Amino acid sequence: MSSNAPQSGFSHEKIETNNFLMVVLILLVVAIGGLVEIVPLFFQKSTTEAVAGMQPPTSLQVLGRDVYVREGCYNCHSQMIRPFRAETLRYGHYSVAGEFVYDHPFQWGSKRTGPDLQRVGGKYSDEWHRIHLVNPRDVVPESNMPAYAWLEGAPLDGAQAATHMRALRRVGVPFTDAQIAAAPAELKGKTEMDALVAYLQSLGLALK
Ligand code: HEC
Repeated sequence: MSSNAPQSGFSHEKIETNNFLMVVLILLVVAIGGLVEIVPLFFQKSTTEAVAGMQPPTSLQVLGRDVYVREGCYNCHSQMIRPFRAETLRYGHYSVAGEFVYDHPFQWGSKRTGPDLQRVGGKYSDEWHRIHLVNPRDVVPESNMPAYAWLEGAPLDGAQAATHMRALRRVGVPFTDAQIAAAPAELKGKTEMDALVAYLQSLGLALK
């Protein structure tokens, strides 16, 4: 038999010349490869447990996060510091999975018209955030961020916070009954501006 004669049995040529077989085998390989990479993440502590010292959000922060999502802040801001020198020099410690276990849904984002906000907690005073959100140009003249002045006049709904916290508990955020019951009283007289600022100030503190 000459060396370049087709081999007998199951040759690669059979796969390469049969579209259907090729597609099925590609899907099989991708499925197995995907499972091998993804399934262990469900069981690793580093991806399923909160980083040390991280607390579940307060009722005020829960509603602040809702404002953040509703206003689409994620369209211009990511919350995901990548593990590169240029990123960590600018923003601080890179993001780790355990920081997001209470985030439903997470706010990683990928669009950065503005800076990453993962470690903005504690960077400025509450007052700075208020002024900035009412009119960003008052503190950063060249800013193209929209103004959110009306948040100061928007009251919070305490009953909604309790419902929301109960829903979050169902997906794994460890709120106690006492925390949920206290929410309406805690939020009395507070505005959406208070909530958003409290949320921003809580970001990224666990790994500062
Ligand atoms: C159209 C894009 C855009 C949207 C939408 C937007 N921002 Fe910004 N944001 C920016 C830009 C640009 C900057 C940088 C200039 C500045 O500080 O104003 C910024 C800066 C910030 C900063 C200061 C970050 C730092 O480290 O100095 C905070 C905090 C912030 N934004 C919060 C928010 C929140 C909260 C929302 C939603 C209510 C929001 N942004 C919506 C563009 C945006």
